[in-house]
Amino acid sequence: MRLADDEKAMLDGKEGPAVQKAMELLVRYGEALGAERLVDTNNAGGVFGGFGPATRGLSEEEVFCEFSLDSTEVVEIPSMKIFSCHFEQPMDLTHWELEGVSPEALVANKKSRAFAARIGFQLIDTCAPYLAGNVPVMGEHCAWMESSAVVYCNSVLGARTNTEGRESSTAAMITGKIPYWGYHIDENRLGTHLIEVEFDVQSTMDWGLLGYYMGEIVQDNIPVINGIRRAPTLAKLKHLGAAAASSGGVEMYHIVGTTPEAHTLEQAFGRKKPVQTLKFGKTERKLAYDMLNSANTNTEVDFVMLGCPHYSIDQVWEACKLLEGKKVKANLWIFTPSAIKELADRNGYTEIIARSGGVLMTDTCPCLGRVYPKGTRIAAVDSAKQGHYLPAILGFPTWFGSQEDCIKAAITGRWEGGLK
Ligand code: F3S
Repeated sequence: MRLADDEKAMLDGKEGPAVQKAMELLVRYGEALGAERLVDTNNAGGVFGGFGPATRGLSEEEVFCEFSLDSTEVVEIPSMKIFSCHFEQPMDLTHWELEGVSPEALVANKKSRAFAARIGFQLIDTCAPYLAGNVPVMGEHCAWMESSAVVYCNSVLGARTNTEGRESSTAAMITGKIPYWGYHIDENRLGTHLIEVEFDVQSTMDWGLLGYYMGEIVQDNIPVINGIRRAPTLAKLKHLGAAAASSGGVEMYHIVGTTPEAHTLEQAFGRKKPVQTLKFGKTERKLAYDMLNSANTNTEVDFVMLGCPHYSIDQVWEACKLLEGKKVKANLWIFTPSAIKELADRNGYTEIIARSGGVLMTDTCPCLGRVYPKGTRIAAVDSAKQGHYLPAILGFPTWFGSQEDCIKAAITGRWEGGLK
């Protein structure tokens, strides 16, 4: 890999041993990927160190060196060089007990958060960083973890990132560099598959189903969605991308007339021709719905999870309209970034949810933190991504449906959702 002078200096240790280790890691990583050079970045998002028992008994420096810099040698950790966000946590710091987190894990987490903040991590703690003030601009090179954030960054914002890991995103935070390959390069951002949409995709659930279907078919390619009749909202695009990234490995999509690199079909594909043309009509929508629901038989729901990716304020508000004056029978946990919860507190939404018996949580989610109400047997979610992972990670059957169907299930304790 060709290195610029400032990169060679870092590799030679001129900025200290931690920067040197981070640069060594980036060079190894870049060479394995076939990258010819590095690119400057001023926006990295990842997680601090490691979570769980493997890190217990280690100092914060030891955790950071071993889990983020891939080094058993412990070196002094400098402040992060660029704007660096902490994307996820294994627990909610207020509702940790309800989530089944032990006091020891809480103490360890608080210690690691304090260290992360001291060295320059912004503790936004959300998989939807664009809801909490991290909104990169068109063309900006980023180094982000988290598949749903990555697909939103590339597709909706027109910024550029691959799906980084903990080590590479941390190395970017310390050096301000990331390998120039994949989605950083213009030609790798062009569409590969054409999806002709044959009906008016409107609801958030339908956007999730479209994402789930296209991810299943195109895997890690770049779908171009054509035929959308009305502009989607942020929440709908958030669900679309998260679903496509979980059923396939979609890191970028285009919507003709909506997303910034697809004003026209020609722009979305460049000089390439689609390798395959697919349709998304009512049959495909049902197929996607059945993929998520067909294994379920028991309609007694005892846990409803909303907020994957973390809910935006309009989604919290919509949930409140359905919950106001009602009581839930099943456990209802709604997840949002802590910055949005602050707004929900001010607007009285947290209180409405609490009065119904639900809880507005932050920082984590059941799949990420392995947190869920004790005794859960059957869950319901309004996110295709959470519906995809929850049965595999936590082992309980999970219904997928609209926000309305999920809240109804929370109130009655019974799943009655379906396609309308
Ligand atoms: Fe976020 Fe968890 Fe979903 S990290 S995207 S809420 S699986």
